[in-house]
Formats: sequence, C-alpha cells, structure tokens
Amino acid sequence: AAAEKGGYATFMEKEIHDQPHAVADTLLGRTDADGRLVLDEMSISEEQLKAVDRITIVACGTAAYAGMVAKYAIEHWTRIPVEVALAHEFRYCDPIVNERTLVVSISQSGETMDTLMAVKHARELGAITVSVCNTHGSTIPRESDAVLYTHAGPEIAVASTKAFLAQITACYVLGLYLAQLRGGSYADDAQSVMKELGGVPAKIEALLGQMGRVKEIAKFMADTRSVLFLGRHVGYPIAMEGALKLKELAYIHAEGFAAGELKHGPIALIEPGQPVFVVVPSPTSEHGLHGKVVSNIQEIRARGARTLVIAEEGDEAVVPFADEVIRVPATSPLLAPLLTVVPLQVFALWLSTAKGLDVDQPRNLAKSVTVE
Ligand code: AGP
Repeated sequence: AAAEKGGYATFMEKEIHDQPHAVADTLLGRTDADGRLVLDEMSISEEQLKAVDRITIVACGTAAYAGMVAKYAIEHWTRIPVEVALAHEFRYCDPIVNERTLVVSISQSGETMDTLMAVKHARELGAITVSVCNTHGSTIPRESDAVLYTHAGPEIAVASTKAFLAQITACYVLGLYLAQLRGGSYADDAQSVMKELGGVPAKIEALLGQMGRVKEIAKFMADTRSVLFLGRHVGYPIAMEGALKLKELAYIHAEGFAAGELKHGPIALIEPGQPVFVVVPSPTSEHGLHGKVVSNIQEIRARGARTLVIAEEGDEAVVPFADEVIRVPATSPLLAPLLTVVPLQVFALWLSTAKGLDVDQPRNLAKSVTVE
C-alpha cells in the first residue's frame, strides 16, 4: 500500500502532488502542431455545437465547484450563457433545456447517481450531453452523447483534489474549443490561453514546493472550531471548495462566501480571532476586483479576524492587512483557480492529520455516491 501511495502517508497527499500531471495529461493531445484545439473524441457534429445557445453544467460537490469556476471562463470566451445546476436539483426545477442546450456533466467517478439521473433527464428533453469524466467505461459517459476524459489517474482519497484541477482544465479546453469553433472575438485567443495553460503544471509544482508554512499553520489550528473562506469571481467557488475540504476532512464548521456578500450578512460572524482565508484576485483582474477584496480584508481585520491571505507573488497591497500571506505564482485571472485551491487542499489535509483523523476515509462519506 505504501508503494501505491508513492511514498506519501496518505492517498490524498499523493494525489495533491499528482496535480501537475493531472493538468498536463488532461491538456495532452488536445491541440495540433499549430496549437489549435482538436477534440477528436467530440462525437457531436460541428453544426450542432455551433447552434448551441445555452450551456447547463450539472454536477455535485467538488465537481459542481469546478463547474462554477468553468462558468466564468466559458461565458467569457464563448458569450454563451452558462448555468451551473446541482445535479440533484436539476431534474426537479423544470429545467429549460432543448436541442440547442449543451448539458455538460462533470463527475470524477462517472457513477454519481444524482448526476447520472440529471444527464438522462437532459437527454429526454432533447439536450446534447457531454460528460467530463475521470473514469473510463463508467456509466455517465456511456449515457452521454460525447465524453471529454480528464486524465487525473485514479483518485482514491474520498476528498477530491486532482480530479478537481483536471475538471477545470477539461472544461477550459471545452470552452476554448467552442470559442474556436464559433469564431467569436475570443477565437484567436484560444491558442494563447492553451499555451498559458501548458505552463500551469510547472507553477503548481513550484507552489507545492513552498507549502511548509501552510502545513505549520494547519498544525497550530488543530483546535479551531470554525473557519471562513472568502473569494470573488473565480475565487468564489474556490472559497467554497476550501470550506468543503475542511468540513469533509477535519469536521470543522467552514463556510465559503462571495467576498461581496460580506456586508450583506456574513460580516456579522467576524469576532476577534475568527480565522478567515481570503482568495485574492490577481492584481491584473478587471473591474478593480483586486482592490475591492483588499478592502474586504481590511474590513474584517479591523473587526479582529485572523486573516490568512492567498495572494499572487509580488502583490504587496495585501501585506499590511494579512496575518499570513500565502503566495501563489502569477497567472491570468481565469487560470488562478488551478493554483489558489492548492494551499486550501494542503491546509485541510494537515489539519485533519493534526487532529488524528482518517484523511483518506472521512466519516460518513463514500467515494462515489451511487444512490440518490
Ligand atoms: C469532494 O471532495 C467530494 N467527496 C464530493 O463532493 C464529490 O466531488 C461529489 O460527490 C461528486 O463526485 P463525482 O465527481 O464522482 O461525481
């Protein structure tokens, strides 16, 4: 078993370290020599894909957060409206779906019953269905019109890590492919984004090499009873994913919020000593989002929060308001989730370990949820 874990103590730790490969392998073979996207496996006609006027992503848990991240990117690149539905809600909300709707399911296992039922329902309604899946030959891809496999390799730990990064990557590939196919204003950018994505695995690798301080923070925080996570734009689903990891692995009350929601309620939770992770948008983000989140950090710090700030290398604006700064390599804003989630995974792993819990098999959870 030690060999299966690649020398790490747990599958989760190994799988966190597999992430550079998960992203690189998911990109592999999806561009031609000129860097243009080619999706040979996309067994849906170009005409059908060009006619798509709405995308609905269906997934559960971490896969749904990958979908939420993807929504920002796919809408930006394709200008097709994208909705993200929790798969178990989708069937019961009288969804607006027809033959021009592309329903993208995201599932690591390919066996999640809620997601499978959503896909079947979408097909009944006439939608075109694409499965983003990590498990060859599993049920959801078989029930879909086409499949875009993530190549994360087998994920054994119940808490999903490398599959999440691979799911975001595959959804980006899909979004860029659609942009290229439809020839909108971002069609020409597809190649340059793919190029930048190609550089992300090395950045994840570098980031993994500097997680020592996060491990220490996690150990100090073994007695913490509640942790909040804030993020904005693509950082918002990352905040929720960070909270989910902590709930699952360390059984700690954790909530992820959109930073802009703070003053609409959650700021009332801030009391002296409350730990808050903040996923800071890249300083190059549009619409001054970076400055807005820095103000949020200032506001919660003034009320006594202990601020654990995830910020890009070179972002000095956060320093005066941060109790801890966790650095991530610089990227375009849309690619940042592939990096900012890593310290949150590492934090949950080591906090769970510090509490003496079973990292790979958290209580009450199953790796794949095959019942509704
Ligand atoms: C994540 O850590 C989970 N354990 C869980 O939320 C998972 O992502 C969800 O159940 C979906 O699973 P799937 O990707 O296999 O469909």
